[in-house]
Amino acid sequence: MSQSTYSMPPEKVEIFKSLDGWARENVLVHLKPVEKCWQPQHFLPDPTSDGFLEQVEELRERAMEIPDDCLVVLVGDMITEEALPTYQAMFNTHDGIRDETGSSLTAWGIWVRAWAAEENRHGDLLNKYLYLSGRVDMRQVEKTVQYLIGFGMDIQTENNPFLGFVYSSFQERATFISHGNTAVLAKHYGDNHLAQICRTIAADEKRHETAYATIMDKLFEVDPDLSVLAFDKMMRKKISMPAHWMYDGQDEDLYVHFSAVAQRLGVYTVEDYANILEFLVERWNVEKLTGLSDEGRKAQDYVCRLAPKIRRLEERAQMRAKPKPDVTFSWIFNRSVKL
Ligand SMILES: [Fe+2]
Ligand SMILES: [Fe+2]
Repeated sequence: MSQSTYSMPPEKVEIFKSLDGWARENVLVHLKPVEKCWQPQHFLPDPTSDGFLEQVEELRERAMEIPDDCLVVLVGDMITEEALPTYQAMFNTHDGIRDETGSSLTAWGIWVRAWAAEENRHGDLLNKYLYLSGRVDMRQVEKTVQYLIGFGMDIQTENNPFLGFVYSSFQERATFISHGNTAVLAKHYGDNHLAQICRTIAADEKRHETAYATIMDKLFEVDPDLSVLAFDKMMRKKISMPAHWMYDGQDEDLYVHFSAVAQRLGVYTVEDYANILEFLVERWNVEKLTGLSDEGRKAQDYVCRLAPKIRRLEERAQMRAKPKPDVTFSWIFNRSVKL
């Protein structure tokens, strides 16, 4: 597999060094102090309390009403969160921002560690919840996590932080949307507690989105040409989701199947993808950028026109779509689910 690497012109590393003070004031503020953060335990039965078993029983009763297709989406979301080591490693592939020592005191180093520490609560909470629910085959779920972390991901950001920050802005918003939609489903099936969990995680993702999109605001100001070219490049490659190499030891197309269920339930859809793109075009004022190179103007044109194009293609694909066969998921004991 060929991968392009180190695509940022080397002298541009200076931009990230010179933005250190700015990032301290404008990016790190989007982190929450640990003492003010929720922890998974806040939402889980308390193992030290006399009522522990009763609380577990209640949790299991509520979770009984969640249908199989929702469970598949929840498990997929949880596995995506659990592959966090990959995402922290990905951040550190980028020139100019990587945490050089594992305890670097640059704003970028502080950010990536604290961001990962916040994210770590997401997988923890969903994992414990699903474990206690008794509804999923935990061994299969755990195997999927182990495979996924072992495989890594093909993010295609070329060690280039301009590409990396476009990707992260997009991706955090995508998770904000999908956890939010999962909350709506959980509520619909009467599990208000789970709905609250998903909403709480979504709120973290939103904060992270704001941080990454703010970094891009600044990069668009400092180097609009490189920024719009980065946006264009990532959109042409298509933003692949972090868990696209998901595998459970059985289903070679597990990610495709999981995404099809997420699409059908409206948890994360092609329409969401187009909406995120449009949102970012607007947020970064891409239409109004001036003083771009020829290439930059082409990139500007491409990203500004892309969302309606994606919607048209999707509409046509829907019209031509044949009914899909049901698929079994090992996560739910090989019961079958409609795609
Ligand atoms: Fe997360
Ligand atoms: Fe996130």
